[in-house]
Amino acid sequence: MDRILVLDFGGQYNQLIARRVRSQHVYAEIKPYNKISAAEIVACGYKGIIFTGGPNSVCDESSPHVDEGVLEAGIPVLGICYGHQLMAYTEGGTVVPGSEKGEYGKTLLYTEKCSLFEGVPKTSICWMSHRDMVEKLPEGFTAAAKTDQCPVAAMVNEKKRLYGVLFHPEVTHTEFGERILGNFIFGICGCAGDWLMDDFIDTSIEKYRRELEGKKVLLALSGGVDSSVAAVILHKAIGRNLSCVFVDHGLLRKNEGDFVEKTLGGKLGVNVIRVNAKDRFLGKLKGVTEPEQKRKIIGAEFIHVFEEEAGKLGKIDVLAQGTIYPDVIESGRGDSAVIKSHHNVGGLPKAMDFSMIVEPLRELFKDEVREAGMKLGIPRELVMRQPFPGPGLAVRVIGEITEEKLELLQNADAIFREELDGSSERNGLAQYFAVLLDTKSVGVMGDSRTYGYTVALRAVVTDDFMTAEWARLPFEVLERASSRITNEIKGITRVVYDITSKPPATVEWE
Ligand code: XMP
Repeated sequence: MDRILVLDFGGQYNQLIARRVRSQHVYAEIKPYNKISAAEIVACGYKGIIFTGGPNSVCDESSPHVDEGVLEAGIPVLGICYGHQLMAYTEGGTVVPGSEKGEYGKTLLYTEKCSLFEGVPKTSICWMSHRDMVEKLPEGFTAAAKTDQCPVAAMVNEKKRLYGVLFHPEVTHTEFGERILGNFIFGICGCAGDWLMDDFIDTSIEKYRRELEGKKVLLALSGGVDSSVAAVILHKAIGRNLSCVFVDHGLLRKNEGDFVEKTLGGKLGVNVIRVNAKDRFLGKLKGVTEPEQKRKIIGAEFIHVFEEEAGKLGKIDVLAQGTIYPDVIESGRGDSAVIKSHHNVGGLPKAMDFSMIVEPLRELFKDEVREAGMKLGIPRELVMRQPFPGPGLAVRVIGEITEEKLELLQNADAIFREELDGSSERNGLAQYFAVLLDTKSVGVMGDSRTYGYTVALRAVVTDDFMTAEWARLPFEVLERASSRITNEIKGITRVVYDITSKPPATVEWE
């Protein structure tokens, strides 16, 4: 299998670069620039290397630099933005700070004929985001594109197979970005484009069948996409030797526990052990109102329940986890420049003694996990489900959690989701749910006065959940949801819609 190395210099689009390469069926992996040497790169047999963008300036001595051997290894390299400037600098050209205002957003690009721009018209639109510029080209390079502000928007050295673009081909605003990346990985690097999801699934199943033969494997099933897909892959490999413990903390959405159990355990035949631990969790949460406290209690209790249940299974050799590629990069466990602690990583028992950990999805992005899920025959409803926080509805019932409040929220949330799931509005939404406030308000029904809870509806649009926009839902959808919630659920008198983006708010209320 051909592989492309994405050498990470800290740019915000690095994962996007890898995804754009993979979407053309070539496997790409990201490594921080300072964690892999030229010799290791050569030894790994990469067909090509992409230097990413980054927030630094090569004019600054302390900025990230690259082992010169990487450019001398005879492997084709494409430098993007900072990567382009770094290539120019390392090869002996000069880079200068551009104008104070830089060049940002959609920009007209004028290209010359070269292998990188095969099939790209002379004039097209690209996405720029830079200040520094290449002033003097390194020896052996020619300028291959310019913009109105920048004479070296791209440079090439066909002999050494080194290419640099100041713009971002990975961003969809660059009209021919996909074509340019395609020219690099196919035309220049000679990749075959044979990385297919079917092969990934078959190879994984085969590999785990071999590696895990005769071993007992334990997986914590949350009912989310990642752990479900991991479970099905392992189930196909080792069948009943896989035990999936599904801790139902009672803070799931309406009917969710049954749905997960039926879908995976029933139709797909996965060995699911469901633990109904609602009373235990609610008991521990009694009187607790502080959000972080709720999270801590749920995290700790989850581990207790999980360990107890696992203890009943006898000696288990292997722990399986639904870790996916962004978790690996973001948690800094493997190899990361940008370190962000991720909610779902590292939350499992440390006390238990496993001889091995397997993570069948650790190389996949979320959309690829979904694609794998569909190919494995997991129902669309489960594969396409929106993200759901580990502490569940505990962080959506504001204030103290009681059975009554939990049920009110489950019902309101189910109505809101039903209304959206049945409409085309659902497509663009990353997450949509209801929150039960701790505020009661007066209402009137028939001739009598009511006094009940307030529900806030939240729907957001986002790619990465680091920032999010509140969704401009049509009034008709909101009206239907509001009217159904107040009519069908006794105890809720008022519905409001959250029109705050992130930042300054967060997606969840707690
Ligand atoms: P925030 O509220 O931080 O949410 O803007 C961003 C994304 O993270 C999810 N989220 C959580 N997921 N455990 C999780 O597993 C948590 O404690 C948690 N808090 C927030 C949230 O649903 C959204 O998708």
